[in-house]
Amino acid sequence: MSKLLTCLKNKDTSCVPIWFMRQAGRYLPEFRQIRSQNPNFFKLCFNSELATEITLQPLKRFNLDAAIVFSDILVIPFALKQPIEFRKEGGPWNPNFNLNELLETKENFFLSTLNPVYETIKKTKQKLEKNKSLIAFVGAPWTLLIYLYNLKNQNNPKDKIEIKNKNEIKLVLKKLDEFLKIHIINQKEAGADIIQIFDSWAGLIKEEDLNEYCYQPNKSLVDFCKDNDIPAICFPKGLKENYKNFLDKVKPSAINIDYDIDPAWAQKNLKEVCIQGGMNPSLLLKNEKMALQETEKYLEVFKNNPYIFNLGHGILPETNPEIIKKIVDKVNLIKR
Ligand code: CP3
Repeated sequence: MSKLLTCLKNKDTSCVPIWFMRQAGRYLPEFRQIRSQNPNFFKLCFNSELATEITLQPLKRFNLDAAIVFSDILVIPFALKQPIEFRKEGGPWNPNFNLNELLETKENFFLSTLNPVYETIKKTKQKLEKNKSLIAFVGAPWTLLIYLYNLKNQNNPKDKIEIKNKNEIKLVLKKLDEFLKIHIINQKEAGADIIQIFDSWAGLIKEEDLNEYCYQPNKSLVDFCKDNDIPAICFPKGLKENYKNFLDKVKPSAINIDYDIDPAWAQKNLKEVCIQGGMNPSLLLKNEKMALQETEKYLEVFKNNPYIFNLGHGILPETNPEIIKKIVDKVNLIKR
């Protein structure tokens, strides 16, 4: 079994597997080169030859334990007939939310749109060394709602979001739950070993709505993964001390902590789970010595836990790939 699967399935503490969120992305010149010739981001996600090449780019440079398929959480709204745009400023934008189209999308249409992602997974799996894992992913329903309804842009980015059209949202959440499960099982059948569930905007949910919009929807996906023997890693970013409630309710195989979580607090409070990540990606932009010291800090705090090295969010585009190499080499020296 790969190092990452041993950690996830057996809660093994003898090694520290390592991979990075956004390891296939703009900080790599070889990614920027392909991207500059492919201006349409969705088309690039659906070009399985190029998506496979991009997925494997970071593994050519660094001794990582996993590849994460090059795709996006927004392929799901796209396959539900919501053509979200990637704008240069202000992030993704859904110009024309259409509830009926979304609710009436059939499984056949959805799967034929997403088929290139499954092809990418098959191709990557064939090329990936046997001791490495292949991670596939989905966005959690709440985080997809944020982009479907452009909720982030209508508010002060730090304000919690008030959901007004609750009945409509219920219908959308039900559709997302059903179709995310279809995407999860098809990614597994294509060869994915692990699913990461990104709830990047969980921190914008009001305290009294957490059960309905965060814990329950994530639990439904995690339970589905358990029923299908797929380890699930959850990333409910921004939950602060509610990380503990999330864990108690959702019980994933692993939980990715964000950079607002004090690692010592996590070590004390997040029990019987693999912990992943935590280090602030912006620290990688400063001096190398600090980044390596911080790496040591996380390794030290979690020395008695099953721990997967990663960051508290994705690698930033301004990051120098050399610092990633140094961190990977350092973590790979660890034997416990
Ligand atoms: O290497 C990997 O991690 C695999 C590929 C991956 C991408 N997006 C590629 C991508 C993954 C796992 C994602 C997840 C994703 N996408 C999330 C969850 C993680 C997080 O960052 O919180 C979210 C919220 C999205 C939505 C999304 N996609 C945004 C907000 C943007 C634009 C802003 C940005 O960060 O670039 C994207 C575009 C995107 N997805 C890029 C990449 C490499 C950049 C595209 C470009 O080249 O312009």
